[in-house]
Amino acid sequence: MHPPPQTLPDPLPSDPMPLASTWLRQAWDEQVQRNPNSMVLATVGADGRPSARVMLCKDIVAEPGYVVFYTNYESRKGRELRERPWAAVTFHWDSLRRQLRIDGPVVTSPASESDDYFASRPWRSRLAAITSQQSAPVGSRHALLERLRDMAAHFGTPDPLAAPEDDEEPGLHLPRPPGWGGFRLWAAAVELWVEGEHRLHDRARWARELTPSGSGHFHAQPWHCQRLQP
Ligand SMILES: Cc1cc2nc3c(=O)[nH]c(=O)nc-3n(C[C@H](O)[C@H](O)[C@H](O)COP(=O)(O)O)c2cc1C
Repeated sequence: MHPPPQTLPDPLPSDPMPLASTWLRQAWDEQVQRNPNSMVLATVGADGRPSARVMLCKDIVAEPGYVVFYTNYESRKGRELRERPWAAVTFHWDSLRRQLRIDGPVVTSPASESDDYFASRPWRSRLAAITSQQSAPVGSRHALLERLRDMAAHFGTPDPLAAPEDDEEPGLHLPRPPGWGGFRLWAAAVELWVEGEHRLHDRARWARELTPSGSGHFHAQPWHCQRLQP
């Protein structure tokens, strides 16, 4: 079932982030697709060339306005975000006829927040994050699985490939690797898009100035908003 064509609120809200966060929550609550919180993350390296990949969005924090995602800090995207700490994300909820674009400066999440999130993940996912040097070459699939088993032996977990999937959480201490954690993409620009009839889509773009205020925070000027032609 597709919802009827919609339009954006009129007048447009002065701050787009509560609506952006509501869209993500609706997609999640309605489980509109297998990974309703997936988004494409685009980064640019020192060579000026963009790269994009699908990621899971952990949260859209409406106030003060940032997107949270988790990854390996030494991966290609991690390296590129160090070189150029600015990124763009795009969500597409096809069955809701909605697209959401957010871009802005990126900072690492506080270590304590990454620790808490890492600890909340299933033990197999934690072990995989410890094992994988994301984006580095590996000789073979076999070599990767051997490394996983070595890590399991090192930390005294069951063999993650042999243990039944529904077993109890072993309650082990699997520490967050320092090279794995969260990023916060602070929203400097947001575009909300809804599909209209006959390709007459409804779009609006909000932008605001962000000035670094220390410790990964920004001082935000008020949003400016414009409706855009489709
Ligand atoms: C649905 C989906 C969700 C994903 N979620 C994440 C994620 O949350 N974090 C992550 O590091 N990679 C995630 N990936 C894998 C990335 O797309 C990518 O392959 C990986 O992060 C390496 O990217 P890089 O080499 O550009 O750094 C996901 C892939 C898919 C298809």
